[in-house]
Amino acid sequence: MSLAKRRILLGVSGGIAAYKSCELVRRLRDLDADVRVVMTESATHFLSPTTFQALSGQSVRVSLWDAQAEAAMGHIELARWAERILIAPASADILARLAHGLADDLLTTLCLASAAPLYVAPAMNQQMWAHAATRANIETLRQRGVGLLGPASGDQACGDVGSGRMLEAHELRDAMAASFGDGSLAGLNVVVSAGPTYEDIDPVRFIGNRSSGRMGFAVAQAAALAGANVTLVAGPVSLPTPAGVARRIDVRSAAQMHVAVLDASALADIYIGAAAVGDYRPNYVSAHKLKKRDGAGLSLQLSENPDILTSLSAKPVHPFLVGFAAETHDVANYAQHKLRNKGLDMIAANQVGEGLGFEADDNALSVYWADGAIELPRAAKPELARQLITQIAQCYRASRAG
Ligand code: PMT
Repeated sequence: MSLAKRRILLGVSGGIAAYKSCELVRRLRDLDADVRVVMTESATHFLSPTTFQALSGQSVRVSLWDAQAEAAMGHIELARWAERILIAPASADILARLAHGLADDLLTTLCLASAAPLYVAPAMNQQMWAHAATRANIETLRQRGVGLLGPASGDQACGDVGSGRMLEAHELRDAMAASFGDGSLAGLNVVVSAGPTYEDIDPVRFIGNRSSGRMGFAVAQAAALAGANVTLVAGPVSLPTPAGVARRIDVRSAAQMHVAVLDASALADIYIGAAAVGDYRPNYVSAHKLKKRDGAGLSLQLSENPDILTSLSAKPVHPFLVGFAAETHDVANYAQHKLRNKGLDMIAANQVGEGLGFEADDNALSVYWADGAIELPRAAKPELARQLITQIAQCYRASRAG
């Protein structure tokens, strides 16, 4: 693992976990990262800038109004310099200010002025973490593509026990290293499908499913981080395009996704089907809103949608094909059946149900290919996607070498 010459801006906000950020600077520098520290004014009540200056070997900035520091490296220059911004600890206050787009100090201004991916490592009392205001702020940041690292659960400095502990320095260092990817898909064209499809019944109703798109978007981001040229075909979701993804095609129905994926896959090396594609569509789409028929009931005639993966595998020349299988029971059997039946190279199976697979922030996968399998235990979707991409890259290279 190396972070050689990687430029990481570490934001330290006010919280007792700031002491762990001293260790974090050391761990990042062990991997040869170039670390610059920006503290909020509150953070200076917990630690002195001199401590971080000694550890990072760079001057530490606190104020937007420091004329001398601005003359050396202006805040816009610093915002451009950063390849990653990591705020650790991220207090409830800074999460709220970020969520609302405030720029009332140096750190929040830098976050707005920088195009670098932003990661936050929350640290606060468990009650503050559970508060509806913090939940809403986290959701806003997550929707905006901010990477959430932790928090962990356990004993807290205030004596409480619960969720809100900042991750350990080595975990944050590993997350930073992982965020730069390993180049395992460098030079390859990868198409990823994500999200649900909507099959319209009339102008106001549709048949859909519970996919949020988070898993597929995380896979697209992980593929981009691994160096691939990524096209993301997205069903109707409200997620921002992940950093590094070259092209995004938005579709609504399974038929549109079918056309878009086949088109985009013509020159692709790998296709990863993480979308939850509707199996059926209404035979007839009413031009007007269907009216209630006073107890007469309503039957919908449905036709089967073409299977995107099967269409691709039927082609004489096709990309390396990775399917997903979403199952409520008998996961391994159904997944292995789909692997064979759809002519896939790999399949990633997940159990879905209440709080599982769909919509959740984390997931677990069982991955199968012709002569192997691997369990990827429960983890946040971005981390799981990173592990899946590493496995896909290995199997892809082996298939092309053989
Ligand atoms: O989006 P999230 O909320 O993060 O949830 C993630 C997820 C649960 C949706 C994801 O991890 C997942 O499992 N995606 C596949 C869901 C699915 O449709 O599984 P399936 O078992 O019905 O289909 C198997 C495979 O065939 C899938 O790769 C699917 O994309 C593909 N398929 C299905 C139908 C169709 N007409 N064409 C297809 O290519």
